[in-house]
Amino acid sequence: MSTPILEAEDLQKSYGGRRAVDGLSFAVAPGEIFGLLGPNGAGKSTTLAMLSTLFPPDAGRIVIDGVDAVREPNRVRPGLGFVPQELALYPALGARDNLAFFGRIYGLHGRALEQRVDAVLDVVGLRDRAADPVRTFSGGMTRRLNLAAGLVHSPRILFLDEPTVGVDPQSRNFIFDHVRRLRDEGLAILYTSHYMEEVERLCDRVAIVDEGRLLALDTPQALIRGQGQGLLVVGLPPSALAPEARFADALHAAARATVREGLLYLEVRDLNEALLELLALCKERNVALTSLRVLEPSLESVFLKLTGKRLRD
Ligand SMILES: Nc1ncnc2c1ncn2[C@@H]1O[C@H](COP(=O)(O)OP(=O)(O)OP(=O)(O)O)[C@@H](O)[C@H]1O
Ligand SMILES: [Mg+2]
Repeated sequence: MSTPILEAEDLQKSYGGRRAVDGLSFAVAPGEIFGLLGPNGAGKSTTLAMLSTLFPPDAGRIVIDGVDAVREPNRVRPGLGFVPQELALYPALGARDNLAFFGRIYGLHGRALEQRVDAVLDVVGLRDRAADPVRTFSGGMTRRLNLAAGLVHSPRILFLDEPTVGVDPQSRNFIFDHVRRLRDEGLAILYTSHYMEEVERLCDRVAIVDEGRLLALDTPQALIRGQGQGLLVVGLPPSALAPEARFADALHAAARATVREGLLYLEVRDLNEALLELLALCKERNVALTSLRVLEPSLESVFLKLTGKRLRD
């Protein structure tokens, strides 16, 4: 990784007595799309809010371009673009007026403001709708405008909080292409999502978070490779799952076996071999499977293995 533009060290944040972020550390480089993947309430939005200086962490360090962003938020803000999970647009105003509003907040005015607004309208393909009130826009168009609002002041770091929720496939692909282009232009992009396949396709590195903690951090490919050939999720009667039945011990094709909430999770090296062995063992012990799922190695199986949870789908 080249020199990071953003470094987070041991970030902590509680609401009331509740820990929302619990010791997150990572670094993001220019020209990188860094994904935060986690279920509802994992702490993704809270993390982005702290990194983008919306509010400070209870503890921990944030360094942006060599500047301590907790002590000197005003110095780093001009370089940050934030696209919030909840839309932050004025429905009665046109696209152009919305963008001009955000541009002015960031200190742009006059000809420079006009040029930037036109440029980002082009970028998100909304130039021909520039005068129309935002309330007349489709979900996808509104999301694109939301993205444009975070870009109007030419930031070097872009925070995208679930930018594709409620977006049709065409606008989603548009957003993807655009985010990639910004990456290639050298922006550092932090991207939160709970869409596995989106993160797998788009992100250069992924941090998997749950309950405010970092569970894994690597490229999607490396995380997936670490899975062997996949995961078998096997439903068995409680008697077979009881520790004294030593059911999993008899399965040699499983690299690791864990029991969670009445299901046996088998990490397998060879899928065929594991399935044959599993069925043979069931027959031998006269045990009937109650369910069986095969998860090809993917971020979803990585996630399931790490947390025992499925993401929303
Ligand atoms: N303003 C707040 N006041 C109290 N608790 C909050 C507040 N914002 C978030 N939380 C709690 O902090 C935890 C983390 O929330 P956060 O919104 O950061 O998660 P998230 O990963 O973005 O979830 P989602 O996928 O639903 O957007 C959750 O338990 C949430 O209920
Ligand atoms: Mg969120």
